[in-house]
Amino acid sequence: MNHLDQRVAAVRRFNRFYTRQIGVLRERQYKSPFSLTEVRVLYEIAHGEKPIATELSSALGLDAGYLSRILAGFEKRGWLSKKPCDADARQSLLSLTAHGQKALAPLDARSREEVGAILSGLSGAEQDRLIDAMGTVENLLGTQSTQTPAYILRPHQPGDIGWVVHRHGVLYAQEYRYDEHFEALVAQIVAKFIQSFDPKRERCWIAEKDGEIVGSVFLVKHSKTIAKLRLLLVEPSARGFGIGKRLVEECVRFARQVGYRKITLWTQSSLHAARGIYERAGFRLVAKKKHHSWGQDQVAETWDLKL
Ligand SMILES: CC(C)(COP(=O)(O)OP(=O)(O)OC[C@H]1O[C@@H](n2cnc3c(N)ncnc32)[C@H](O)[C@@H]1OP(=O)(O)O)[C@@H](O)C(=O)NCCC(=O)NCCS
Repeated sequence: MNHLDQRVAAVRRFNRFYTRQIGVLRERQYKSPFSLTEVRVLYEIAHGEKPIATELSSALGLDAGYLSRILAGFEKRGWLSKKPCDADARQSLLSLTAHGQKALAPLDARSREEVGAILSGLSGAEQDRLIDAMGTVENLLGTQSTQTPAYILRPHQPGDIGWVVHRHGVLYAQEYRYDEHFEALVAQIVAKFIQSFDPKRERCWIAEKDGEIVGSVFLVKHSKTIAKLRLLLVEPSARGFGIGKRLVEECVRFARQVGYRKITLWTQSSLHAARGIYERAGFRLVAKKKHHSWGQDQVAETWDLKL
C-alpha cells in the first residue's frame, strides 16, 4: 500500500469507528417521529446564523427539492417563520416559531444527554484532548479553514503565567512526550521573566480568542543588543490561522522598535511548524547540538535574526 492509500484507509477506519460511536447515521436516532435529515434541518435553522434555504442546502449537502419539501412540512406544522432577506429579495430568512422551538426542545435535551454520557466516561484532561482534536479536524476540513478567526493580542496579566506553564507542560507531553522537567524549565523561565521584567525592553504577548487564551510568546533581554524569543505556543484548536506567525512578527517589530541588533532563539529540530515560521520570518539556523532532555533524545538548534 502506498503512503496515500494508507492515509485513506486510516481516515475510513476513523469514519467507521466514529459513525458507530455516536450512531449519527441511525435514522430516527432520537426516538422522535422525524428522520435524521429533518432533525439536522431543524438544528441548523435553530442554531445557524439567520439561515436562508440555499445556505441550508449547501451546509447540509441536501438537494434543493428535498429540502424545500422538508421546509414545506415544517411550515404546515406552524414551526417555521420566514422574513424577507435584505441581501436577496428572492430568499427568505428562516427561523423557528415558538411552536417549532418546543418541538425541538426534547430532541435537543436528548442529544445533550447522549453527548454528556460520552464525555462523562472521560477525565477532564481527556475531554480537553478530545475537544482540541475535534477542533483540529474542523479547522482542517471545514470551511472555516480559510477564514482567520477573530483573536486579540494583549500583554500578560495575573493568571497568564500559570496558563503558560500549565499548557506547555500538557501540550509538550501530549505532542512530543516531554516529561515534567520541561514544565519545570518553563516555570523557571517565566518566573525569572516576571521577577526581572523590564517593560521597556521585554514583552509577553497573550493571544485570546472568544475570551480564552490560545497562545503566547515572550521577548526577553539576552544582552544589551540581543533579544531572545521564547515560549512560542498556540493551542491546537487555534493553529493554522496565522496566530503563531503573528506572535513572531510582533516580537520582531518590538525588538526593532526598542533598538536590539539581533534576536536569537533556541528550539528543537522536531518542532517543524515553529522552524518553518522562524525561517519565513528571516531567522537563520546558526548552531545545532544533540542532547538528552525531558526524557527524549533531542537536537537543539539556535536560530538568529539580524535586525
Ligand atoms: C509552532 C506553533 C506556535 C504554530 O502556531 P500556528 O498558529 O499554527 O502558526 P501559523 O498558523 O502562523 O503557521 C503555521 C505554519 O506552519 C505550517 N505547519 C503546520 N504544521 C507543520 C509541520 N508539521 N511541519 C511544517 N510546517 C507545518 C503551516 O502550514 C503554516 O505554514 P504557512 O504559514 O506557510 O501556511 C504551534 O504549532 C505550536 O504551538 N507548536 C507547539 C509548540 C512549539 O513548537 N513551539 C515552538 C517553540 S521553539
